[in-house]
Amino acid sequence: MTGEAEDVIDISPGADGKADAERVTTKVVLDARSPSRILSIGCNRADGCGFDVRFSGNGAARFDASDASGARIGGSIEPGKVTMTPLWTSQPSPFEVRLNATGLTPDASVELSVSIDTTPQLVRSNQCLSCHAIEKVLVGPSFRDIAARYRTSTGVAERLVGKLKTGSQWSWGAVPMPAQTQVSDTHARTLVSWILSLP
Ligand code: HEC
Repeated sequence: MTGEAEDVIDISPGADGKADAERVTTKVVLDARSPSRILSIGCNRADGCGFDVRFSGNGAARFDASDASGARIGGSIEPGKVTMTPLWTSQPSPFEVRLNATGLTPDASVELSVSIDTTPQLVRSNQCLSCHAIEKVLVGPSFRDIAARYRTSTGVAERLVGKLKTGSQWSWGAVPMPAQTQVSDTHARTLVSWILSLP
């Protein structure tokens, strides 16, 4: 459906030069004159990205998307409340999402804030983010600080994988990290190499 006289808004990570951004956000205004927009959403992670849509305004909006496998990843947005719809796609290359605002009176508009979240799904599904953030210290050190400390050490990946299995204390302070027993060995290696890859 490209080739129409409709703007395609590119919100791929890297489109603004910030390829490593945790989040890439754009705002899209839909009103009665331009009730529909196409977003080209890119994802530079092999294991897929999530995208969140926040809505505000006085109309209703609907959006549809499907990834290359045809799986539907769209949803609808309720009028009158700010809704966050986290969606995941395992499609690593760009795909298009068509946003359609419905029920708009001539003076109404909706503003959608769409962000791509490039944090690997594994980090979310294993609850790491309840204690860690990428940029800032929470209960545990930030993932960037961990990367900065260990990036150049040899053999550190296996040691950190071991820490996930057994827990950790006194590397950063008195607060311990409990053993992350839910994480398989394979996933622990993926998580650690992602952390160490952070700039
Ligand atoms: C309950 C809170 C909590 C959770 C959940 C948690 N961590 Fe931690 N993590 C910590 C704390 C606190 C430290 C610092 C421990 C220390 O000082 O040795 C830490 C340290 C680390 C370290 C550095 C260890 C070292 O020796 O320097 C890594 C790597 C790490 N966490 C990864 C993860 C990953 C990946 C997950 C998800 C599977 C996770 N953590 C889940 C609290 C947590």
